[in-house]
Amino acid sequence: MGIATSTLSLAQSRLQVAAPYLIEQTWADYTPEQHAIWAELVTRRMPQLREHACREYLDGFHQIGLREDKLPNLSEVSALLQPRTGWQSTPVSGFLPADAFFEMLAARMFPTTTWLRSRDSMEYTPEPDIFHDVFGHVPMHAHPVFANFLESYGKICAGLMARPDALERMGRLFWFTVEFGLIRQDGEIKVYGSGLISSHGECTRVLAGGCEVKDFDLDAVLNQEFETSEMQPVLYAVESFDQIYEATKQAEMRLG
Ligand SMILES: [Fe+2]
Repeated sequence: MGIATSTLSLAQSRLQVAAPYLIEQTWADYTPEQHAIWAELVTRRMPQLREHACREYLDGFHQIGLREDKLPNLSEVSALLQPRTGWQSTPVSGFLPADAFFEMLAARMFPTTTWLRSRDSMEYTPEPDIFHDVFGHVPMHAHPVFANFLESYGKICAGLMARPDALERMGRLFWFTVEFGLIRQDGEIKVYGSGLISSHGECTRVLAGGCEVKDFDLDAVLNQEFETSEMQPVLYAVESFDQIYEATKQAEMRLG
């Protein structure tokens, strides 16, 4: 308890609006059944991802010590991640208001839920769980350019809190990169967005050509509306992660 409590209070001391949402992850409380659900989710996704996820995701998966057979202990993940890029996977109580979410990104702390879906919803949960957050998102935070991009995104959005119109457009940039991003590597379309990494059905549909894939274009993305609860009709492929970092800086100039 001593170590966990001091980690929690250290994290809280670095934040203002997000501080009340931070919690401890009591890893020992996960049941064998929950570890078995995690194992089933990971085992189901890996064959497709080994072939179709971008190489930065697959490298990150190993670098942060994720395992197929056990739910991740977030302190252990952060202990491997932080020396690489300064990011941590920080446990939170659930959905965060926008200002708290951006504050955490700007501090290189990824708000991470600790609950896990049940067997009734193996394919999809309306709210993110630890599988979506850690398996889907956190491996990419081990990549230096992606890590810089995400911090920069948080800082820019934190500065736009009084501008709902600008925030809505920045939300589209997040959606079509962090959540549903594609990248061209070795002449093929690879996935890196967490919504594709963590969803077998949606990823399979996209790889099978079930959605239009356009070249990433900042203006197009900022103007592209989306529905969170439906299959995506159009997605965007970047050529490199430098491209989304540069696009974020461009977006700041246009919207700021
Ligand atoms: Fe997500």
